[in-house]
Amino acid sequence: MSTIIQNDCCVTDDEQKKFDQLANIIDLYKGKEGSLIQILHHAQEIFGHLPLEVQKYVADALDISLSEVSGVVTFYSFFSTKPKGKHTIRVCMGTACYVRGGKKLVERLQDILGVQIGETTKDGKFTFEIARCIGACGLAPAMMIDDAVYKQVNINKLESILSKY
Ligand code: FES
Repeated sequence: MSTIIQNDCCVTDDEQKKFDQLANIIDLYKGKEGSLIQILHHAQEIFGHLPLEVQKYVADALDISLSEVSGVVTFYSFFSTKPKGKHTIRVCMGTACYVRGGKKLVERLQDILGVQIGETTKDGKFTFEIARCIGACGLAPAMMIDDAVYKQVNINKLESILSKY
């Protein structure tokens, strides 16, 4: 098991458990090809996002620089440095969806949720993002909430869709 211990005064038992879990994951993947991305995926599952202290921990454990870890985290859109909401809404802004009303969906959702793209609602329920083509171009505009795809969405359907969550 990795020997890095979180000595910070403010690390709670719960957080320490998460770091212990991460240490086990790092031991599993260390030295394998593509290990950094795999480890970061697991770290995001464990912590919900990838704050700086988690990135530092991974960098120390793998004996690589923090900038190398941060570079990967910022390059891939599926990694997030901010806490995410319980559900993730992704409105497609690919060409087909954009021309068939995707922009209106984005504007209406910003109104309903009271957040901008990339933000999470105050109650922690929804994170609002945009996507580039989710494979439903024939039935545009489309959006996803977690793994569910909603097709031919119009702004009047949005509130009833959200009420299911
Ligand atoms: S452009 Fe939106 S699903 Fe393809």
